[in-house]
Order: sequence, then C-alpha cells, then structure tokens
Amino acid sequence: MIIYNTKKEIREALAKCRAAGDQTGAVPTMGALHEGHLSLIETAKALTDRVVATIFVNPLQFGPNEDFDTYPRSVESDLARLEASGCDLVFMPDRAELFPPDFSTKISVAGVGEDHCAISRPQFFDGVATIVTKLLLVLSPDVAVFGEKDYQQLAVIRRLVRDLDIPTSIVGVPTVRQADGLAMSSRNQYLAAAERDAAPALFVTLTRAAEKLQLGHDWSIVQGWATARLIDAGFSSVDYINYVDASSLAHIDRANRPGRILAAAWIGKTRLIDNVPVKET
Ligand code: PAJ
Repeated sequence: MIIYNTKKEIREALAKCRAAGDQTGAVPTMGALHEGHLSLIETAKALTDRVVATIFVNPLQFGPNEDFDTYPRSVESDLARLEASGCDLVFMPDRAELFPPDFSTKISVAGVGEDHCAISRPQFFDGVATIVTKLLLVLSPDVAVFGEKDYQQLAVIRRLVRDLDIPTSIVGVPTVRQADGLAMSSRNQYLAAAERDAAPALFVTLTRAAEKLQLGHDWSIVQGWATARLIDAGFSSVDYINYVDASSLAHIDRANRPGRILAAAWIGKTRLIDNVPVKET
C-alpha cells in the first residue's frame, strides 16, 4: 500500500493503473476507520482492480460550533487497517493541498441536499458536495463507494455526479452495525457508557416504525410514537424523524413506493443518525 500526500502524485499513480488496464475504485473517508469503512473497501475491491482510500477531515462540512477540532484522528491504526483490508493506495492530503486560503467555489445540491440533516447542519451538504466533487476530479475513479449509513449524503452525491456528468459510478453499501444494532460511526467514541447502552434504541425504534408503516399505520402517529420512545430510552432530543421517498427524499405518508425513515437524535452531547428501508406494500 502506497501513501500519497499530493494531488500530482496520486494523479500520476492512478494514471499508471489505468494505463495498465486496471479499473479503479475510490473510498473517501475522514479516517477514524471502523468496520463500516472497511466494508466499503471490500466492496470496492470486489468491483475494481485498484482501490484508493482517502483520509481527509474536511473542514468545509463542519459548522462553527461542531467538532472539527476534536473529531477523532487515528492515522496509524487507520493505515494498518487499510493495509490489512487490501487497499492499494491512500490519498492523505493536508488542508492546504486541497484548500488554498483563497478557495472560493461551492458545490450546492438543491432538493435532496435540503431538509432533514440540512436543517440543523446548514453548511454540511455544501461542504460534502464540494470535497467529494474535488476528490472525484483528482482521482477520476471508475467507481466510488459510499455508505447508506449517511443516506442523505449518498443521495446528494448521486445527484451531483449525475448533474455534473462526472464519469464515476456511485455504489451504496448497507450500514454495518454492532451486534445490538447501533450503526458503526466514528462519533460513537464520544458516547459515555450509559449513553452507549441507550444508543441502540435508535435502530430498534426505526425498525419498529417501519413495521408499523407496513401494517398500515398513519405516519403522523408512528412519528409521534417513535419520538416519544427515543426520549423514553434516554435520548435528550430528537432532531427529526422523517419518512421519505427512497430516491427523491421527499416526505411521504404511505408505503405505496420504496421509502426510507431517516432520523437524527441527540444523546447527551452526541448527535447520532440512522435510517432504515420501508418496503413498498
Ligand atoms: P466518514 O464519516 O468517515 O465516512 C466515510 C464513508 O463511510 C461514508 O461513505 C459513510 O457513509 C461510510 N460509513 C460510515 N459508517 C458506516 C457504517 N456503519 N456502515 C457502512 N458505511 C459507513 O462520510 C464521510 O466520512 C464524509 O462526509 C466524506 C464522504 C468522506 C466527505 O468528507
């Protein structure tokens, strides 16, 4: 596994792979890697010949009062995990390599990039869309792999790639969970023991809510039930629980097409997100 810090070097290395006839797969991350990230690497390995992971904590996607400074950083163990998972190349630029002081461009995705998480994190999807566009332009991968754990992010990335005619196939990978259902996340490290015990209630509640919808219950009732259940389970507040069309992310209220329940909730000082599918009935 070879590590590159500059755009020039990674571009040259990937150009050589392509010249040798290899298909390339990219897995963008912010580091603090866990088994969720590694399942993306596995998928990229299954679909392509050369896998490049990126590690970059993107300042653009953090709000002024968010955790950019304290976001977990564990480069050594990340590199060991990537190597063990069979990743071929790593792109690990510093901030100045991607964002010169007078960087002034923003990619903004209307519709799917609004509502849900965008309401409490207004800068987030523009920050994600801008860095992902840059990474796809630097790496020019045939395939790029992202997790369904960040379902709205995946929808934003699919849309920008389509709208901007970026010649990369976007592949989504199902959420990897702990045995008790908690979605793996770099931010789970923030949870105190009692919070960690309560946290699986998010997935359990969303799963039950999906079952209720499939039994024909009214969404407004299910939403109220789910909110109350999370608070009962020890969550401090619920940012949102929305039932949406699985591709447009528009609000829906009946299971007459493929849907998704998306949610974000606070447990102490940690904001957790999760989502589950709701089958068409
Ligand atoms: P990060 O949170 O590090 O996640 C990197 C990728 O791993 C994303 O595609 C995310 O959806 C996926 N992922 C995280 N937890 C997962 C889990 N439990 N199961 C499956 N996949 C999971 O998401 C970002 O970084 C950034 O926003 C990024 C896209 C890199 C842009 O900065």
